[in-house]
Amino acid sequence: MIEPMIAPSILSADFARLADAADSVERADWLHVDVMDYHFVPNLTIGLPVVRSLHAATDLPLDCHLMIEDPDRWAPAYAEAGAANVTFHIEAAKDPVATARAIRAAGALAGLSIKPATELDPYLDVLREFDTLLVMTVEPGFGGQEFMAEVLPKVRRAREEVRSGHLRLFIEVDGGIDADTIEAAAAAGADVFVAGSAVFSADDPGAAVEALRARARRAMPG
Ligand code: DX5
Ligand code: ZN
Repeated sequence: MIEPMIAPSILSADFARLADAADSVERADWLHVDVMDYHFVPNLTIGLPVVRSLHAATDLPLDCHLMIEDPDRWAPAYAEAGAANVTFHIEAAKDPVATARAIRAAGALAGLSIKPATELDPYLDVLREFDTLLVMTVEPGFGGQEFMAEVLPKVRRAREEVRSGHLRLFIEVDGGIDADTIEAAAAAGADVFVAGSAVFSADDPGAAVEALRARARRAMPG
């Protein structure tokens, strides 16, 4: 039985109070940090200095999701800044294997993300160099969007590859995950669930994390 992991996304938190946001979800598994550069996506968030400060302010493992151009150049520094997992987008990468190796050499897990329209199959071999596959369940760029159930066949396919032993990685979903949608993602084979608005718009973010975890656990295939 795989245990579900919940990764609250601070994109939906108060950016002036990020340490408080981290404290409010202290029983989460990872803290998801969305890095955007105004180029890969039409939004701008935070970068290395904030990741360094967050790392000093919380014991939660930081799950950095880089929605940036030229991740080959920038991603390893996020591992050096203290991220536990550094995920970048295949659509932006020139040499994903070299970048994964550099991230791992700097001490973090390496993750590869695919946008909703990006197929998984061409990357099944490349993914042997990674620890995490992040399947976007919305178009990257903003929180609070609607979950796209049509991408779940990619999650199922990845889970088959893990079951058969071809791949060994976390299968993470990101975008539109809430109490209603998490079950479909869990049933399809995801084991890491990013949730921004569902956690940080709740009156009690910590309780929202526990509720999501319980729902995912119920829906995960045995
Ligand atoms: C979107 C980000 C997500 C975002 C999810 O590009 O990658 O991590 O914070 O937010 P919700 O859970 O509100 O869809
Ligand atoms: Zn994200």
